[in-house]
Amino acid sequence: PVGQVQEVGKKERYVRPNSASSPILVLVGTEYGLSHEVASKLEDELRVHANLFVRIVDMEEYEMLNFEKEQLVLIITSTYGDGVPPTTARPFFDYLEANKLDLSHIQFCVLALGDRSYPLYCAAGKLMDSLFEQCGAKRIQQRVEVDQEDWNVFDRWINSTVAMIPSLQLKESDDDYLYEVAKSFAAQAGKHNKKVPYSSKLLVKRLLTKLGGDKEAFHLEFELGDSELKWIPGDSLAILAHNKSDEVKAVIALLKLASSLKINTPSSHYQEKLGSTNPSQITLEHALTKCYDLHNLKPELLTLLKDHAKNQEEKNKLIELLKEGTSKTNETLHKFLEVNHLVDVLKMFSSARPPVNDILGALGKLLPRYYSIASSMAHNDKTVSLCVAIVRYQLYGTDRVGIASTHMSDRLAIGDQCSIYVNNNPDFRLPEDPSTPILMIGPGTGIAPFVAFIQERLKQNATGEMQLYFGSRSSSLDFLYGPELKQYEADGAIKLYTAFSRETSKKVYVQDRLLENAKEVAELIEKGGHIYVCGDAKSMAPDVHNTLKTILTQHLSIDAADAENYLHKLEKSKRYQKDTWF
Ligand code: 2AM
Repeated sequence: PVGQVQEVGKKERYVRPNSASSPILVLVGTEYGLSHEVASKLEDELRVHANLFVRIVDMEEYEMLNFEKEQLVLIITSTYGDGVPPTTARPFFDYLEANKLDLSHIQFCVLALGDRSYPLYCAAGKLMDSLFEQCGAKRIQQRVEVDQEDWNVFDRWINSTVAMIPSLQLKESDDDYLYEVAKSFAAQAGKHNKKVPYSSKLLVKRLLTKLGGDKEAFHLEFELGDSELKWIPGDSLAILAHNKSDEVKAVIALLKLASSLKINTPSSHYQEKLGSTNPSQITLEHALTKCYDLHNLKPELLTLLKDHAKNQEEKNKLIELLKEGTSKTNETLHKFLEVNHLVDVLKMFSSARPPVNDILGALGKLLPRYYSIASSMAHNDKTVSLCVAIVRYQLYGTDRVGIASTHMSDRLAIGDQCSIYVNNNPDFRLPEDPSTPILMIGPGTGIAPFVAFIQERLKQNATGEMQLYFGSRSSSLDFLYGPELKQYEADGAIKLYTAFSRETSKKVYVQDRLLENAKEVAELIEKGGHIYVCGDAKSMAPDVHNTLKTILTQHLSIDAADAENYLHKLEKSKRYQKDTWF
C-alpha cells in the first residue's frame, strides 16, 4: 500500500529495568505504532499517579506460555484495512483462536483502535475481547472503541484504567519469568527492521511519466548492500522521509531558537530514526527534520498555544476554535487543522511561545510511508525498487504535498541515503502453485507489486497464465513501465490489457476492459485462478468488484444474489486479494 498512515514506530522491544517484575502486562497490537503511543501514555500515568510500572509487549513478541503467570492484561490493539488484526499481531490472534487456553486466572480489558471509514470497524479489538472472554478471563471494564486518533477517548480510557488498578490486588511477578520474555525478544531481532532501519543509498531515479502531464511518478531503486533485507513479492517498503529543510528552518526562526539547541531524544519509539546508536540528546533541527510531523497538527497543540498566548485577540481566536467537541465533531477545527501546518500556526499566533519541549510534546510523530515493492529478489537481489506517485495538490487554495513522495522526488538525489525497512504483507501473495493462472488489476501505481509478481514468475518458469490490466490517463504521458510491459507481452509472458481514460471522449477504465473480456476472466476463475487488485480503494476497487460480480452472473450462471457470496469465498480462500489505499 502507499500509506496514508496514521501511526508509526514501536517502543523498545526489551523490558525496561523498572518494569521487569510488574504484574501488569500491556499487550499491544499495532500496524504503525499508535497503539504504542497510547501504551506509553498509560505507562506514564500509572507511574506518576499510582507509582506502578508496566510491561509493554508487542503481540508478535509475546511468549504464549507466559500467560500462565500473568495476572492483569491490558490489551490495546488496532484494526487494519478490511477489519483484520495488525499484520505482525496475526499469529497471536490465530494462536488464541486455535487453542482454547485457560485464562481464568487473568483479568483484562480492551482498548480497540479503528477507523470508521473502513468496513468492520474495530473488528480486531472486538475479536480479542471475545477471545479473552471465551478463555475464561475476567473483564475489569467494558471494551472502549476509538475512531482514529482521538486523544480524548484515549485519555478517558487511560484514566479509568489507572483508577481501577490499585483495587485489583496484584502480586509482584518473579524475575525468571522475565528473563524468558527477554530471551524470546532477542531471538526475533533481525539485523534491519522497523526498529533499526537500513540506511540505503538511492541508485536509480527515473521519471516514468512525461513532463507536462498532470501525473508524476518515479521508478526508484535502493541499494541493499549487506542489509540482509528480504521480501516476498506483495510486501511493501517503509520509507522514513524527512521534512523539508526550509520548513524546519522557518519553524526554528519563528520559535527564535538555535538549530543546534540540544533537546532530549524523543521517547524510545524514535529509535528507528536514530539507527543503532541511540544518543540521549539530538539537535532541535534533527528532531524537527526527522522525528516530528509538522503538517498534521493535533488539537493539543492549539490548547497549548491558547494557554500561552499573551495577545488577547489570539487567545480568543484559539478559545473559539477549541470551543466544542473534538476535531471529528467540530467542523471548523477539523478544517483548520487540515489546512494549517506548524509554520502557519506559529505565524498566526505569534504571541504564544510555550517552552519548546511542550511544543514538541504536542506534535505527532513523522510516520513512515509504505510503498508496494516493484521488484522481485529472485530477479535482482542487489536493489529494491519502488514505483512512487508524487503527491501534490491544492487544498482550499493552498499548495499541499505528500512528505514522503516529495522527499524522494525533490530532496533525495542519486547517492543520497534514505532509511528503509521491509513491511510484510501476507495478504497479497502469488499462488503457491506456479501453474495457477493469475489475473492482475493495477491501474496507476497499483502496477507496482505486479512488476514484482511478473519478475518472480518468470524466474520460476511458471506455466500459469498471467493476465494484466493496467490503466492510466494516456498511453503517451503516464503509461507506467509501458516499454517493459509491452516487451513482456511481445515475449508472450503476459496478456496485457490497457485502459487509457483520457484518450477518448468517453472514459475507459480497467473494469470496462474486464467486461469486454468477460468470458476469458470467467474461464480463469473457473480454472481456479487467483485475482489481484491493487490501487485506489475509494472507487476503483469497488467498481472492479462489481464488475467481477457482473461477469460471474453473466458467464458462470451464478445468481446475482450469490455473486457477492462467491467473491467473499474467493477472498476467504485467498484467491481474491486486494492491496488498496484511500
Ligand atoms: P481518470 O483520472 O482519468 O479518471 C490511474 O489513476 C487511472 O485510474 C486513471 O486512468 C484514472 O482515470 C483511473 N480511474 C479513476 N477512477 C477509476 C475507477 N473508479 N475505476 C477504475 N479506474 C479509475
